[in-house]
Amino acid sequence: MPVLTVASSKGGPGKSTVCEILAGALAGSCHLVALDADPTLAFSRWASETYEGPAFKTIAETDEARLAHLIAEHAGEADLVLVDTAGFGNRAATVAMTSADAVLIPALAGEADITEAEKTARLVEGLARAARREIPARVLFNRVRRTTLAKHAGSELERAKLVRLKASLSDLVAYGELSYSGRVPLSGTAGTEVAALVAELRKLRWIPATTRNAVRP
Ligand SMILES: Nc1ncnc2c1ncn2[C@@H]1O[C@H](COP(=O)(O)OP(=O)(O)O)[C@@H](O)[C@H]1O
Ligand SMILES: [Mg+2]
Repeated sequence: MPVLTVASSKGGPGKSTVCEILAGALAGSCHLVALDADPTLAFSRWASETYEGPAFKTIAETDEARLAHLIAEHAGEADLVLVDTAGFGNRAATVAMTSADAVLIPALAGEADITEAEKTARLVEGLARAARREIPARVLFNRVRRTTLAKHAGSELERAKLVRLKASLSDLVAYGELSYSGRVPLSGTAGTEVAALVAELRKLRWIPATTRNAVRP
Protein backbone atom coordinates (compact mmCIF):
# COMPACT_ATOMS: atom_id res chain seq x y z
CA MET A 1 0.00 0.00 0.00
CA PRO A 2 1.33 3.43 -0.83
CA VAL A 3 3.41 5.35 1.63
CA LEU A 4 3.61 8.97 0.51
CA THR A 5 6.17 11.14 2.28
CA VAL A 6 6.10 14.92 1.93
CA ALA A 7 9.60 16.29 2.39
CA SER A 8 11.85 19.26 1.75
CA SER A 9 15.22 20.29 3.11
CA LYS A 10 13.90 23.67 4.06
CA GLY A 11 11.08 24.83 6.34
CA GLY A 12 8.18 26.73 4.85
CA PRO A 13 7.49 25.52 1.28
CA GLY A 14 4.21 23.98 2.38
CA LYS A 15 4.81 20.39 3.52
CA SER A 16 2.26 20.52 6.32
CA THR A 17 -0.21 22.46 4.18
CA VAL A 18 0.04 19.83 1.43
CA CYS A 19 -0.46 17.07 4.01
CA GLU A 20 -3.51 18.86 5.37
CA ILE A 21 -4.95 19.29 1.88
CA LEU A 22 -4.36 15.66 0.89
CA ALA A 23 -5.63 14.28 4.19
CA GLY A 24 -8.81 16.34 3.98
CA ALA A 25 -9.37 15.50 0.33
CA LEU A 26 -8.80 11.74 0.74
CA ALA A 27 -10.04 10.87 4.23
CA GLY A 28 -13.60 10.27 3.07
CA SER A 29 -12.66 7.85 0.33
CA CYS A 30 -9.83 5.72 1.68
CA HIS A 31 -8.41 4.30 4.88
CA LEU A 32 -5.86 6.98 5.59
CA VAL A 33 -3.21 6.98 8.30
CA ALA A 34 -1.45 10.31 8.77
CA LEU A 35 1.94 10.26 10.47
CA ASP A 36 3.50 13.44 11.76
CA ALA A 37 7.26 13.11 12.11
CA ASP A 38 7.94 16.82 12.60
CA PRO A 39 8.76 17.85 16.19
CA THR A 40 6.61 20.99 15.73
CA LEU A 41 3.62 18.59 15.45
CA ALA A 42 1.79 21.19 13.34
CA PHE A 43 0.06 18.59 11.16
CA SER A 44 -1.09 16.25 13.92
CA ARG A 45 -2.24 19.15 16.10
CA TRP A 46 -4.20 20.52 13.15
CA ALA A 47 -5.72 17.08 12.51
CA SER A 48 -6.84 16.60 16.08
CA GLU A 49 -7.78 20.15 17.07
CA THR A 50 -8.74 22.12 13.97
CA TYR A 51 -9.65 19.81 11.10
CA GLU A 52 -13.31 19.55 10.15
CA GLY A 53 -14.12 16.69 7.80
CA PRO A 54 -14.23 12.91 7.48
CA ALA A 55 -12.15 11.28 10.21
CA PHE A 56 -8.73 9.76 9.67
CA LYS A 57 -6.16 8.23 11.98
CA THR A 58 -3.35 10.54 13.06
CA ILE A 59 -0.17 9.52 14.82
CA ALA A 60 2.61 11.84 15.96
CA GLU A 61 5.97 10.07 16.11
CA THR A 62 9.23 11.95 15.94
CA ASP A 63 11.50 9.13 17.11
CA GLU A 64 13.11 7.73 13.98
CA ALA A 65 13.39 4.13 15.16
CA ARG A 66 9.76 3.94 16.22
CA LEU A 67 8.68 5.79 13.08
CA ALA A 68 10.25 3.18 10.78
CA HIS A 69 8.27 0.43 12.49
CA LEU A 70 5.06 2.45 12.57
CA ILE A 71 5.20 3.18 8.85
CA ALA A 72 5.81 -0.49 8.02
CA GLU A 73 3.04 -1.60 10.36
CA HIS A 74 0.43 0.76 8.94
CA ALA A 75 1.52 0.30 5.32
CA GLY A 76 0.19 -3.25 5.61
CA GLU A 77 -3.38 -2.27 6.39
CA ALA A 78 -4.00 1.34 5.34
CA ASP A 79 -4.81 2.43 1.78
CA LEU A 80 -2.47 5.36 2.23
CA VAL A 81 0.12 6.30 4.84
CA LEU A 82 0.82 10.01 4.51
CA VAL A 83 3.92 11.28 6.31
CA ASP A 84 4.72 14.90 7.11
CA THR A 85 8.33 15.65 7.96
CA ALA A 86 10.61 18.33 9.35
CA GLY A 87 13.43 19.86 7.32
CA PHE A 88 16.83 18.25 6.97
CA GLY A 89 19.18 17.25 9.66
CA ASN A 90 16.19 15.36 10.99
CA ARG A 91 16.65 11.62 11.15
CA ALA A 92 12.92 10.92 11.21
CA ALA A 93 12.61 12.73 7.86
CA THR A 94 15.30 10.48 6.41
CA VAL A 95 13.52 7.39 7.72
CA ALA A 96 10.25 8.65 6.24
CA MET A 97 11.86 9.16 2.82
CA THR A 98 13.54 5.74 2.95
CA SER A 99 10.23 4.11 3.90
CA ALA A 100 8.28 5.85 1.13
CA ASP A 101 6.86 4.47 -2.08
CA ALA A 102 7.03 8.04 -3.36
CA VAL A 103 8.22 11.43 -2.14
CA LEU A 104 6.46 14.69 -2.84
CA ILE A 105 8.69 17.76 -2.59
CA PRO A 106 6.80 21.04 -2.26
CA ALA A 107 8.82 24.01 -3.49
CA LEU A 108 8.26 27.69 -3.99
CA ALA A 109 9.15 28.86 -7.46
CA GLY A 110 12.26 30.92 -6.62
CA GLU A 111 15.74 29.91 -7.58
CA ALA A 112 16.91 29.26 -4.00
CA ASP A 113 13.87 27.09 -3.42
CA ILE A 114 14.59 25.01 -6.48
CA THR A 115 18.13 24.48 -5.25
CA GLU A 116 16.62 23.21 -1.99
CA ALA A 117 14.24 20.94 -3.89
CA GLU A 118 17.21 19.60 -5.80
CA LYS A 119 19.00 18.77 -2.53
CA THR A 120 15.95 16.86 -1.35
CA ALA A 121 15.63 14.98 -4.63
CA ARG A 122 19.33 14.06 -4.56
CA LEU A 123 18.98 12.75 -1.02
CA VAL A 124 16.00 10.60 -2.07
CA GLU A 125 18.07 9.26 -4.97
CA GLY A 126 20.86 8.36 -2.57
CA LEU A 127 18.49 6.70 -0.13
CA ALA A 128 16.86 4.74 -2.96
CA ARG A 129 20.25 3.55 -4.09
CA ALA A 130 21.20 2.54 -0.57
CA ALA A 131 17.94 0.61 -0.28
CA ARG A 132 18.43 -0.81 -3.81
CA ARG A 133 14.95 0.09 -4.99
CA GLU A 134 13.17 2.91 -6.80
CA ILE A 135 11.79 5.80 -4.75
CA PRO A 136 10.23 8.24 -7.23
CA ALA A 137 10.20 11.90 -6.23
CA ARG A 138 8.44 14.85 -7.82
CA VAL A 139 8.36 18.54 -7.12
CA LEU A 140 5.06 20.27 -6.42
CA PHE A 141 5.18 24.01 -7.04
CA ASN A 142 3.40 25.77 -4.20
CA ARG A 143 2.33 29.38 -3.59
CA VAL A 144 2.53 30.00 -7.30
CA ARG A 145 1.65 33.46 -8.50
CA ARG A 146 0.51 33.00 -12.06
CA THR A 147 2.38 36.07 -13.20
CA THR A 148 5.71 35.05 -11.80
CA LEU A 149 5.60 31.33 -12.34
CA ALA A 150 7.78 30.31 -13.82
CA LYS A 151 8.78 29.46 -17.14
CA HIS A 152 11.96 30.32 -15.37
CA ALA A 153 11.31 27.94 -12.49
CA GLY A 154 10.37 25.28 -15.02
CA SER A 155 13.66 25.60 -16.85
CA GLU A 156 15.57 25.66 -13.56
CA LEU A 157 13.95 22.34 -12.75
CA GLU A 158 14.93 20.95 -16.10
CA ARG A 159 18.48 22.05 -15.56
CA ALA A 160 18.46 20.25 -12.23
CA LYS A 161 16.85 17.20 -13.88
CA LEU A 162 13.93 17.31 -11.49
CA VAL A 163 10.48 16.10 -12.40
CA ARG A 164 7.56 18.26 -11.35
CA LEU A 165 3.90 17.52 -11.10
CA LYS A 166 1.74 19.24 -13.69
CA ALA A 167 -0.55 20.26 -10.85
CA SER A 168 0.52 23.19 -8.70
CA LEU A 169 -0.99 25.19 -5.85
CA SER A 170 -1.48 28.92 -6.09
CA ASP A 171 -0.82 31.40 -3.33
CA LEU A 172 -4.36 31.52 -1.97
CA VAL A 173 -5.99 32.68 1.24
CA ALA A 174 -8.00 29.43 1.20
CA TYR A 175 -4.78 27.46 1.77
CA GLY A 176 -3.22 29.96 4.14
CA GLU A 177 -6.23 29.91 6.45
CA LEU A 178 -6.46 26.12 6.46
CA SER A 179 -4.20 25.98 9.49
CA TYR A 180 -6.89 27.62 11.60
CA SER A 181 -10.12 27.06 9.64
CA GLY A 182 -9.76 23.27 9.41
CA ARG A 183 -11.76 23.15 6.19
CA VAL A 184 -10.05 21.79 3.13
CA PRO A 185 -11.27 23.82 0.15
CA LEU A 186 -13.40 21.79 -2.23
CA SER A 187 -14.77 24.62 -4.35
CA GLY A 188 -13.49 27.65 -6.23
CA THR A 189 -9.94 27.90 -7.56
CA ALA A 190 -8.51 26.02 -4.59
CA GLY A 191 -11.04 23.20 -5.02
CA THR A 192 -10.15 22.87 -8.69
CA GLU A 193 -6.42 22.78 -7.92
CA VAL A 194 -6.87 20.21 -5.16
CA ALA A 195 -8.93 18.00 -7.49
CA ALA A 196 -6.22 18.25 -10.18
CA LEU A 197 -3.51 17.37 -7.65
CA VAL A 198 -5.47 14.36 -6.40
CA ALA A 199 -6.19 13.20 -9.97
CA GLU A 200 -2.52 13.41 -10.93
CA LEU A 201 -1.34 11.57 -7.81
CA ARG A 202 -3.97 8.87 -8.51
CA LYS A 203 -2.72 8.51 -12.05
CA LEU A 204 0.81 8.06 -10.73
CA ARG A 205 -0.58 5.53 -8.21
CA TRP A 206 0.98 7.50 -5.41
CA ILE A 207 -2.41 7.53 -3.72
CA PRO A 208 -5.14 4.87 -3.95
CA ALA A 209 -6.78 4.74 -7.35
CA THR A 210 -10.18 3.58 -6.22
CA THR A 211 -12.46 5.41 -3.88
CA ARG A 212 -14.55 3.70 -1.30
CA ASN A 213 -16.23 4.58 1.93
CA ALA A 214 -13.74 3.32 4.39
CA VAL A 215 -13.43 5.82 7.18
CA ARG A 216 -11.78 4.03 10.05
CA PRO A 217 -10.64 6.58 12.58
N1 LIG B 1 -0.51 27.71 -1.33
C1 LIG B 1 -0.47 28.49 -0.25
N2 LIG B 1 -1.15 29.68 -0.24
C2 LIG B 1 -1.09 30.48 0.85
N3 LIG B 1 -0.41 30.20 1.97
C3 LIG B 1 0.29 29.04 2.02
C4 LIG B 1 0.29 28.12 0.93
N4 LIG B 1 1.05 27.05 1.26
C5 LIG B 1 1.52 27.28 2.50
N5 LIG B 1 1.07 28.48 2.98
C6 LIG B 1 1.42 29.08 4.29
O1 LIG B 1 2.84 29.11 4.37
C7 LIG B 1 3.28 28.84 5.68
C8 LIG B 1 4.24 27.66 5.66
O2 LIG B 1 3.56 26.50 5.23
P1 LIG B 1 3.78 25.09 5.92
O3 LIG B 1 2.84 24.14 5.29
O4 LIG B 1 3.74 25.21 7.41
O5 LIG B 1 5.29 24.76 5.48
P2 LIG B 1 6.26 23.60 5.98
O6 LIG B 1 5.44 22.54 6.63
O7 LIG B 1 6.96 23.12 4.74
O8 LIG B 1 7.22 24.24 6.93
C9 LIG B 1 2.02 28.57 6.50
O9 LIG B 1 1.69 29.75 7.17
C10 LIG B 1 0.97 28.23 5.45
O10 LIG B 1 -0.33 28.59 5.87
MG1 LIG C 1 5.51 21.68 8.51
